[in-house]
Amino acid sequence: MTIRDGLYHAMREAFSRAGIPWDGCGHEDRGDGMLVLVPAELPKGLLAGSLPSELVSALRTHNSAHPGPEGIRLRMALHAGEVNYDDHGVTAASINLAFRLLDSVPLREALAGSSGVLAVIASSWFFEEVVRHSPPAVGAAYRPVPVAVKETTTTGWICLPDHLYPSGQAGLEDLSAGIRAPGGAPAAALRSLPRDTAAFTGRIRELDGLVAAVCGAAQSPGVIGIHAVDGMAGIGKTAFAVHAAHRLAVRFPDGQIFLTLHAHTAGQRPADPVDALATLLLAAGVAPQRIPAGLQARSALWRGYLAGKKVLLVLDDAAGTDQVRPLLPGSAGCLVLVTSRRKLTALEEAAPIGLSTLPPGDAARLAWPGRWSCSATWATGAGKPGPSTTWASCSAVPGTTRPPPPA
Ligand SMILES: Nc1ncnc2c1ncn2[C@@H]1O[C@H](COP(=O)(O)OP(=O)(O)OP(=O)(O)O)[C@@H](O)[C@H]1O
Ligand SMILES: [Mg+2]
Repeated sequence: MTIRDGLYHAMREAFSRAGIPWDGCGHEDRGDGMLVLVPAELPKGLLAGSLPSELVSALRTHNSAHPGPEGIRLRMALHAGEVNYDDHGVTAASINLAFRLLDSVPLREALAGSSGVLAVIASSWFFEEVVRHSPPAVGAAYRPVPVAVKETTTTGWICLPDHLYPSGQAGLEDLSAGIRAPGGAPAAALRSLPRDTAAFTGRIRELDGLVAAVCGAAQSPGVIGIHAVDGMAGIGKTAFAVHAAHRLAVRFPDGQIFLTLHAHTAGQRPADPVDALATLLLAAGVAPQRIPAGLQARSALWRGYLAGKKVLLVLDDAAGTDQVRPLLPGSAGCLVLVTSRRKLTALEEAAPIGLSTLPPGDAARLAWPGRWSCSATWATGAGKPGPSTTWASCSAVPGTTRPPPPA
């Protein structure tokens, strides 16, 4: 109870002092945390600029009056997007994204390893559109981290406003450890294939054709392997590409990268190739300040990085050729598997793999008792239009004592 009261008191104080009227915001209680909806007309820069430091000061005031287990340490996610209401409250794909950022391992680890009381994660949209345009000192405090929660794979930007760094240490360099392994080799983000479908069935002809083409390309230096998997929604393009990528992974020791281009992700716009390139370059371990601004410059840097390497790149759910082309390698050695509901005929260099429905025998093998699940969704009411498009969500962690680092 003390923690909940303390959290609400600290939030109200911090928002007001940051110039964001608490009573003008929407709030939803989420047990050990809350969702705060900030009216769209308020400058979003306040959330990145003054709010974190005001929150730190309000939390420290609470913690000095409530030492020990009644103290509060907080994770906060910042994002902006459209919201809607149904009979159960607020709902939106962008809210799911923010809660995934809030739940992400890098944010939890950042707070666990911090000497401070607050860890903030901004979505890549929020970072690019808001934080980047804040005073330089604000942007410089954020570091990118790869985020993979459920089916969401994205880049988040973490800031620890009150972490005490050892003298001489510039900032949050330790957070980029998720991108670079000891010794400087690109790490986890270059091994980002989703798990293979355990029950993968059939597609033998397409798989054999792909494997033969990849082996053939290995015999003919100079050939860039690009294969475009097309087919209607739900036919199994992603499952096929992921399955094939696992089968071929050993041939591409410099990395296997899975990037979703979001042509058909509900509530999300298709990825802009400029942003997709930033994600790829960050995953490759390029420092954020070394990533140039424009599409051509980013594409050139990405191609330079891939030159001479053996990397397997899965570009999933592409909207079209224009989105894909800037992400392609410029020289041989890599394999690119693109999936799209459209036939990417304008991508002349790509070999098409068209998927149609599984033949009855394969389809029957997929259907065994116990695998079926049933879901039902009711839409009730028209839903009132969302008054707010900017929002923050927070989750509290009791206790000011620093928890042990994750095993
Ligand atoms: N060959 C297969 N064997 C077993 N399961 C499969 C196979 N193909 C697809 N599935 C399953 O069917 C579902 C839909 O497949 P998938 O997501 O790959 O479709 P998709 O073509 O990529 O759809 P979208 O166009 O919406 O991206 C998934 O649950 C997947 O695991
Ligand atoms: Mg798919």
